[in-house]
Amino acid sequence: MTTTVATTPFDGQMPGTSGLRKKVRVFQQPDYAENFIQSVFDVAERPAGSTLVIGGDGRFYNRTVIARAIQMAAANGYARVLVGQGGILSTPAASHVIRKYGASGGLILSASHNPGGPDEDFGIKYNIANGGPAPEAVTEAIYARTQTIDRWLMVEGGDAVDLDRIGTSHVGGMVVEVIDAVADYAALMEELFDFPAIRAAVASGALTMAFDAMHAVTGPYAREILEGRLGFPAGTVRNGVPLEDFGGHHPDPNLVHAAELYGLMMSPAAPTIGAASDGDGDRNLIIGRGVFITPSDSLAMLAANAHLAPAYAGGLKGIARSMPTSTAADKVAEALGIPAWETPTGWKFFGTLLDAGKATICGEESAGTGSDHVREKDGLWAVLLWLNILAVTGKPVMQIATEHWARFGRNYYARHDYEAIDTAKANVLMAALEASLPGLPGQSFGSLTVAAADQFAYVDPVDGSESRNQGVRVMFACGSRIVFRLSGTGTEGATLRVYLERYEAPDGRLAEETPAMLADLIAAAEAIAGIAAHTGRTAPDVVT
Ligand code: G6P
Ligand code: ZN
Repeated sequence: MTTTVATTPFDGQMPGTSGLRKKVRVFQQPDYAENFIQSVFDVAERPAGSTLVIGGDGRFYNRTVIARAIQMAAANGYARVLVGQGGILSTPAASHVIRKYGASGGLILSASHNPGGPDEDFGIKYNIANGGPAPEAVTEAIYARTQTIDRWLMVEGGDAVDLDRIGTSHVGGMVVEVIDAVADYAALMEELFDFPAIRAAVASGALTMAFDAMHAVTGPYAREILEGRLGFPAGTVRNGVPLEDFGGHHPDPNLVHAAELYGLMMSPAAPTIGAASDGDGDRNLIIGRGVFITPSDSLAMLAANAHLAPAYAGGLKGIARSMPTSTAADKVAEALGIPAWETPTGWKFFGTLLDAGKATICGEESAGTGSDHVREKDGLWAVLLWLNILAVTGKPVMQIATEHWARFGRNYYARHDYEAIDTAKANVLMAALEASLPGLPGQSFGSLTVAAADQFAYVDPVDGSESRNQGVRVMFACGSRIVFRLSGTGTEGATLRVYLERYEAPDGRLAEETPAMLADLIAAAEAIAGIAAHTGRTAPDVVT
């Protein structure tokens, strides 16, 4: 029995960089999640007989929304829903399931690396049939629909689906299959990488690791793959049980929130590699013994060595990075004679390039790396490619890094975040910065002279769609760069991100400390943007 529930629009149901992300309390308002999901169903391309994939990162409120989404999918004419056991699917696993089973799309319930719990964050993201995040044209249509919506549909009975038991049941006329959340994904990883080589290196004791799952979704995936299939000893996966509140922590794999792992990797007891992933499993952190690999460097190093993994032995078609990501990957692309693409922040911009075969490997400074195997960034994929490279070369992470820098040069890099600043003040800062752009070229800040400055705009080379106002770039004559942009994923006020990058050529200073190498750029960023004057902040909240 289909029930039509009358509703009225909510303000602000605009998907950000990665879906609609709000406080749990906001989602708990009657009709709030329903309005958004119905808007997705109203605009999504979904031919008769379509399959919908549903899964989340296991955070608080996951099960409630999944139960409702199943009832709504049935009332909206989906033929089949595939849902991960326990309501769990990592974001990359969801992308794979959408592609493998030919679904018309999927709902991913996650607020990624943001904290979880009744007073924390929740999110809903829609992915399309290629397995990737909905492109802007679709998210804009969803938003427009949320502003006119007057009803949502459901059938009774979705509550009855036992999410914990693998098997098939029916809701209305729709088939609901609860699937093993890990099996398909683990099988895919085994196809891509040289598992026998990694297993042998682990068995010989040459390759050791610590993986921090941060009480988030990758726990079950990492246990099955790392401990189960690759033979790392039990306990290699730390914090491996997903918790609704991530144990009260930020499931954000960076040096601040994975401080314990970092401490271990800088200590004499460090294993060969330390790694972590985020709330929904799409981000990664890589730390070698005594060396943190920045996400931008990781992208470049993985691309330079990808041919050592079976899936990439035939070479790469191209490398794509988001604009604020350092240009280290461009140097690799140049050496390989393949295209380097620069896109706006947000994984969704890689989808067309991957679909068109223009890029094989993509990455972002925000700890995301991935390839054309799915249409999301993939935390464990990055970890496994690193393991593959370490196993085949027998070299420690430090050596891979130093040899890379000696060949391509080094891009010293850091991101400074100013969090939860007043939105109005942040907008004034960005407007003033934009207004100052025409006068910047030729100006000097200490030893740095501005060569060019602009507001980044992107025209998708595949579908021609345009995205403007994607961040301010200030390029210096020496090849250094500062980027300023406001985060599109925050749920409180505005977050200003300042990305600092300094290039040293192969014959330059390759073994220095990053903060010292960036000091001039930090001062220039303050002089150019007036961060303290606009926001009252004299130091960033987070440096990654
Ligand atoms: C999400 C997206 C990424 C993006 C990141 C940072 O993780 O999936 O593609 O790079 O957010 O976005 P922000 O707008 O907060 O800088
Ligand atoms: Zn994430």
